[in-house]
Amino acid sequence: MSQTIPVSLGSRSYVVEVGEGLLSSTDLSALVPGRHALIVTDENVAPLYLAGVQAALSGKTVQTVVLPAGEQEKTLERFAQLMQALAGLGASRDVTVIALGGGVIGDLAGFAAACWMRGVRFVQMPTTLLAMVDSSVGGKTAVDLPGGKNLVGAFHQPAAVIADISTLSTLPERELRAGLAEVLKYGAIGDPGFFAWLEAHADDLLAREPFALETAIAISCRHKAGVVARDETEQGERMLLNFGHTFGHAIETEQAYGGLLHGEAVALGMLLAARLSAQLGRAPMADAQRLQALLERFGLPTTLPLGLSAKALLERMRLDKKAVSGRLRLILWRELGHAEVVADIPEAAIEAVFS
Ligand code: NAD
Ligand code: GLY
Repeated sequence: MSQTIPVSLGSRSYVVEVGEGLLSSTDLSALVPGRHALIVTDENVAPLYLAGVQAALSGKTVQTVVLPAGEQEKTLERFAQLMQALAGLGASRDVTVIALGGGVIGDLAGFAAACWMRGVRFVQMPTTLLAMVDSSVGGKTAVDLPGGKNLVGAFHQPAAVIADISTLSTLPERELRAGLAEVLKYGAIGDPGFFAWLEAHADDLLAREPFALETAIAISCRHKAGVVARDETEQGERMLLNFGHTFGHAIETEQAYGGLLHGEAVALGMLLAARLSAQLGRAPMADAQRLQALLERFGLPTTLPLGLSAKALLERMRLDKKAVSGRLRLILWRELGHAEVVADIPEAAIEAVFS
């Protein structure tokens, strides 16, 4: 069984396919209408899933780039390597770039596709839970700089997303848990019923029960597809998807992308945002406690790693993409399931919530 979720963007509309065994049951060569394809993947994913994708494209001229794994590789240098690979392939405008892996690979390969000859076709084959529910959908592509996360990038929508949930069987436990942070985000910002469903099915999800995983992924993708269709370039509503991210990105950057995983940093960031909302008198503290309880059940961090200074984190937050003319804007909530954009928050209150 699989589910098809449309992302409606006029002539750039596409579908997200979610189901078991999709990498073998889908006609992958139909996703590559031209002669050339560049497959981008990483060293953990390649031994598991690359051969199948390459075999399905055997009639095409295919080059593969296997990168080292991890956030520290989402760099301008790796982006340049992909540009060179496309040049080496002799790729013309009808090339298809395929991202086979997690969000790091998706963001990098997507940015390469956005830039090669000013934009070529791009297909997402996400293999982490986080990539299936968030990064593969919606067309945000980017690389990090030492000074800030995702600061260089482009909006460039994929032509298709194939989320084969069978690939989650090999995902390390910590990565599964990190993905659950972005799943519960959809409940936290706008769907209290989904949040309650996650509370009820936490054990099934941690046990990777296929029905629970497919349900959670499909609901998450529907939420994301709806927001992206209404606000593709983040002029308003899409900012809400950044709940916890301004805090989380500051933590990731301060740890030089080698500490908490992205999903873990977002988990902690959501809790900080919920606590800040309560401390500013905007939301009940009981809702922050309920969020904390589900994060703990998912084995996600709820305390700041040692050695991070509140002042340094606040400084990092100033480079957030939601800031306007130096004024920080954060996503807070009024209650669980009701997020909002808030400006002019006293900096002392933000520093205090880190302590
Ligand atoms: P990731 O890409 O680093 O993957 C996590 C780890 O799992 C890696 O070590 C990878 O090699 C391994 N892996 C992947 N699939 C596997 C599988 N099936 N079996 C075994 N191992 C597997 O990290 P991620 O959590 O997928 O993505 C995080 C990135 O996504 C961050 O850079 C973040 O900024 C980005 N992101 C982007 C968006 C967006 O809208 N573009 C949204 C959310 C997050
Ligand atoms: N992950 C946030 C967004 O896609 O907007």
